[in-house]
Amino acid sequence: MKIKNSQFVISAVAKTQYPPDALPELAFAGRSNVGKSSLINMLLNRKGLAKTSSTPGKTQLVNFYDIDGLFRFVDLPGYGFAKVSKAQKANWGNIIDTYLNTRDNLLEVFQLIDIRHTPTGEDKEMYAWIRACGFNGIVIATKSDKLSKNQVAQQLKVIKKELQMPDDGVIIPVSSQTRDGKYVVWDVINALFAANELDIVVERQNASAE
Ligand code: GTP
Ligand code: MG
Repeated sequence: MKIKNSQFVISAVAKTQYPPDALPELAFAGRSNVGKSSLINMLLNRKGLAKTSSTPGKTQLVNFYDIDGLFRFVDLPGYGFAKVSKAQKANWGNIIDTYLNTRDNLLEVFQLIDIRHTPTGEDKEMYAWIRACGFNGIVIATKSDKLSKNQVAQQLKVIKKELQMPDDGVIIPVSSQTRDGKYVVWDVINALFAANELDIVVERQNASAE
């Protein structure tokens, strides 16, 4: 299929607000500002679909995007902003916990890590949490345009080690700016659909098909 129509569905806090139908979902987790919304826009060839936020920490919402009525992308609330209260942190934890643990139609969670930085304690916790919930946790190393090829290769090793990823764990360097890695991500998504016996294959698309 070619993606023809991707649209925002809802920003949810409570489980009762999640879209009721069980379309397969792929979720994106990571620190605030790591590039989650930019990645979603890049993958879908849509500039302003997922809002890139100017006030980090404010949006503790689970954002659902529908892709041609066939599957959904889910933009999870970011973590890691300095100025949050304990109560806000607990609330964030509850929101993520509810989504990860009760969403039967969630196929896989992608965790985004800024390729320039060594994973933080919260990154490590998030990755371990995703694994504990029974997902593989596919790591996307964002903003690859900021580093040289050699540095990219070096940082992929650092991230893999720090997160204690298994040897066969998947980590993909991606740039939402140059679109580097875009098709690798779609290949992984198509493989996930196939592994879940879903008859969905997303075609490689021209960036100009916007
Ligand atoms: P929250 O919604 O606050 O959790 O942030 P987010 O993870 O959705 O990040 P967002 O996509 O809003 O991007 C944050 C900033 O990083 C923006 O200024 C983007 O333009 C920039 N950015 C995102 N991806 C890339 C990338 O691949 N390369 C470069 N150079 N900048 C990027
Ligand atoms: Mg965002």
